[in-house]
Amino acid sequence: MDTRAAPAAPGTLSGETLDPADWQSFRAQGHRMLDDIIDYLEHIRERPVWQPIPEGVRGCFRRPVPTAPTDLAAVHDDFMRHILPFSVGNTHPGFMGWVHGGGNPVGMLAEMLAAGLNANLGGRDHVPIEVERQIVQWVRQLFGFPDTASGLFVTGTSMANLIGVLVARTHALGSAVRRRGVASGGKRLIAYTSAAAHGCISQAMDLAGLGSTALHIVPTDDRQRIDLAALDNAIAADRRRGFSPFLVVGNAGTVDIGAIDDLAALADLTQREKLWLHVDGAYGALAILAPDLAPLLAGLERADSIAFDFHKWGQVPYDAGFILVRDGTLHRETFAAPAAYLRRETRGLAAGSPWPCDFGPDLSRGFRALKTWFTLRVHGTDAIGATISRSCALARYLAGRIAETPELELLAPVELNIVCFSYRSAQPDEINAGIVADLHESGIVAPSTTMIRGRLAIRAAIVNHRTAQQDIDALVAATVGFGRAGADSLAA
Ligand SMILES: Cc1ncc(COP(=O)(O)O)c(C=O)c1O
Repeated sequence: MDTRAAPAAPGTLSGETLDPADWQSFRAQGHRMLDDIIDYLEHIRERPVWQPIPEGVRGCFRRPVPTAPTDLAAVHDDFMRHILPFSVGNTHPGFMGWVHGGGNPVGMLAEMLAAGLNANLGGRDHVPIEVERQIVQWVRQLFGFPDTASGLFVTGTSMANLIGVLVARTHALGSAVRRRGVASGGKRLIAYTSAAAHGCISQAMDLAGLGSTALHIVPTDDRQRIDLAALDNAIAADRRRGFSPFLVVGNAGTVDIGAIDDLAALADLTQREKLWLHVDGAYGALAILAPDLAPLLAGLERADSIAFDFHKWGQVPYDAGFILVRDGTLHRETFAAPAAYLRRETRGLAAGSPWPCDFGPDLSRGFRALKTWFTLRVHGTDAIGATISRSCALARYLAGRIAETPELELLAPVELNIVCFSYRSAQPDEINAGIVADLHESGIVAPSTTMIRGRLAIRAAIVNHRTAQQDIDALVAATVGFGRAGADSLAA
């Protein structure tokens, strides 16, 4: 070994690295930044949910590439004035749009620690991967899956559903499909899901090379659950037409109203027909943590794969999607690839195979597991389950307020935490679209919209753990107020 002192790296002496020249002032500035973001969360209720972006603010993000340095404090000041006030608003208790989780302060701190470690969780032998494996084990336990099941953090359920479809494709065609392509076996694969499924299922079929028309859309019953008799008939008819049914995608919490398919019946059917059962449980699967809701998910433990997000009802900061696959070997055969630069060893940093990159398309992967691990450990799953139950109780409370308010009408049954309703009017779509935009611009509450049986609905998806009865009351009062004003201006 050469013991001569190496010449000092020029960067460490002359400030050429990207580390601060003065750690003390960097530390002080870091503490100010942490204080500011903690203040933001502590006082979130005092802010508007959302506010329109002034043109001057948009202009701040049309600047040329910054070739020269700027003081960190100045950039942070820019963040405080031009980014923080104009964010999407899903940390706010009045946010009820789409299906967005509220995040949580513990998860935020963990995200900062993860950024400090800057770990790449594609592979190799280090404890951040053990943290992810710990979560995989907890998820197996929560959903009653065997120890041989595999799991992986991904961006969100759109990606998790794609992985589910790809593993089902391997199940149907063998792993040779990866080399030869989907046309090589001569089989015309066809999958099934309900009309209430999220659009990313059809997109997954497209991205898997099977084509979105190879997704047979099955009608739903009056509670937006897949019609099992129609599904049975569709499978039989498709087999007669020469198609090869291979996959049923069940729903645990549909995006429009939160409907949960009869998962036990789907498990029976797919077992009988020898089909893969994948469940899109984007937000609904974590209802497993709430004792009063878990029975609604009976049968989920028999699925072949489950996709869900910790960043929705789990309140982990974005993004933290997850895929769980019963047959870990098949999952691995769908993605693992030999490459000289990813050579595995039995010792040293290159040990620890299989690696997460063997279970999905991403090689570079961040440490999503850490914010999830912190959130689950600090709060415990009982507390998260309690917030999930509470959001459903608030949805029922909202349904009750709608029933007692003559101007309002419920448009769909309240299955979980999503309430679709409208302001009664002769021109309902126009009035209700206007009400939702007014609500957003007022900063009071932020629901979204959807179409229910051809009618535009105001959709309140109560996901945020901070939402309380006062926010529901504010939604009802402001909806009625803006509805009356909209009706008056239409009449004029
Ligand atoms: C039922 C359902 N599936 C899939 C998705 C897509 O999930 P993500 O946005 O995490 O990709 C959503 C999003 O809300 C959803 O509600």
